[in-house]
Amino acid sequence: MNFTLTENQLMIQAAAREFAQNEIAPIAAQFDASGDFPKDTIAKAGELGFMGVEVPEEYGGAGLDSICYVLMMEEIAYADAAHSTIVSVNNTLYNNGILQFGTQEQKRRYVTPVASGKALGCYGLTEPQSGSDAANMRTRAVLSADGSHYLLNGKKSWITSGPVADYMVMFAVTRPEAGSKGITAFILDCNQPGFIRGKVEPKLGIRASATCEIEFVDYKIPAANRLGEEGNGFTIAMTILDQGRVGIAAQANGIARAAYDAALSYSKERRAFGAPIGSFQMTQAKIADMKTRLSASRLLMLQAAWAKQEAKASGARTTTEGSMAKLYASETAMFNAHAALQIHGGMGYSKEMPLERYFRDAKITEIYEGTSEIQRMVIARQETGLR
Ligand code: CAA
Repeated sequence: MNFTLTENQLMIQAAAREFAQNEIAPIAAQFDASGDFPKDTIAKAGELGFMGVEVPEEYGGAGLDSICYVLMMEEIAYADAAHSTIVSVNNTLYNNGILQFGTQEQKRRYVTPVASGKALGCYGLTEPQSGSDAANMRTRAVLSADGSHYLLNGKKSWITSGPVADYMVMFAVTRPEAGSKGITAFILDCNQPGFIRGKVEPKLGIRASATCEIEFVDYKIPAANRLGEEGNGFTIAMTILDQGRVGIAAQANGIARAAYDAALSYSKERRAFGAPIGSFQMTQAKIADMKTRLSASRLLMLQAAWAKQEAKASGARTTTEGSMAKLYASETAMFNAHAALQIHGGMGYSKEMPLERYFRDAKITEIYEGTSEIQRMVIARQETGLR
């Protein structure tokens, strides 16, 4: 087995590292404190091709593979998780969803501006009463008598980039009696009447990524904006999430590596009882566990990215690979952020160092795009065939 990255993969990793270290890292603490949306750096990410990594060049993207995507995500998250959240939703939940299920016209019209970084995409699945139980949504789309449009009413919550997005991939009930088979996917223009952006959520971490509720009041969706077949929306939502979760694994690994690097260097510099604290066995055990978990986690991420890339040709499901990578990486991010903060002691608790930000940011990776409990359920269902 050959673990060597290709030239393209090394190139995007280096480009993302340079951009993230030079442009994002210096402003990360400031945007975390203010909670402002980092529009200038996100625009620059777009110019560099990071907002449409896997999108073919004919639709405005960089035309690279899924491994390139996770390597880029990891570097952005290493500098700042909030930036990587915005990048992730745009790339996988929005672009890749339309790429996989959209018509040529939908790809041309709705992927091109977003993949090239001129516009921003978001993903509308969660509702106030349905987070983990995604099929329990209530937002309703009713087809008009002449079949020209759907009338949309309802509410979505926790929409990443909702306050600033231009377009949304969104799921609504079209046949309430049919359960998960009565859900349909649509592409919405966020700047049309009836698309109402609610209050921005005050969050524990990833504070510079804007999150809000969206209400739909008699929003008219042209019938041409249906994504895939009527009733196929839940399968589309789940397939998109299978792939999105690989990106969250990359984000979590970026946070885990940032925490590890900080802990490693501090444990060699900081002295107590006449010796560097890294010479004490209790610190050494933390360093060893952090390093081992991080390495295992990156291998699961690369395996899932490879499977995702192969599936583009074969159409195979990569549910288990995506869930395992996300589950392990998010718990590693939390583990490493916790251990790194502990190694830093009081300095780790201070806002003058980034450790407390890693700790707050890591937590979301165990929650969004499916909680760790949901990932375990998904993996076990796939393995046992039981529900
Ligand atoms: N791929 C393809 N089809 C799938 C699928 C997948 N991964 N998962 C389920 N399906 C199909 C099933 O095969 C089934 O079809 P059949 O009836 O024909 O067999 C149908 O969908 C219904 O599946 P289930 O019966 O398994 O559905 P369920 O109601 O029991 O729930 C679940 C399944 C896995 C719990 C799902 O609801 C889930 O993943 N929940 C978590 C939701 C989530 O991740 N939300 C994140 C929101 S987005 C976000 O966080 C974005 C952000 O801001 C960053």
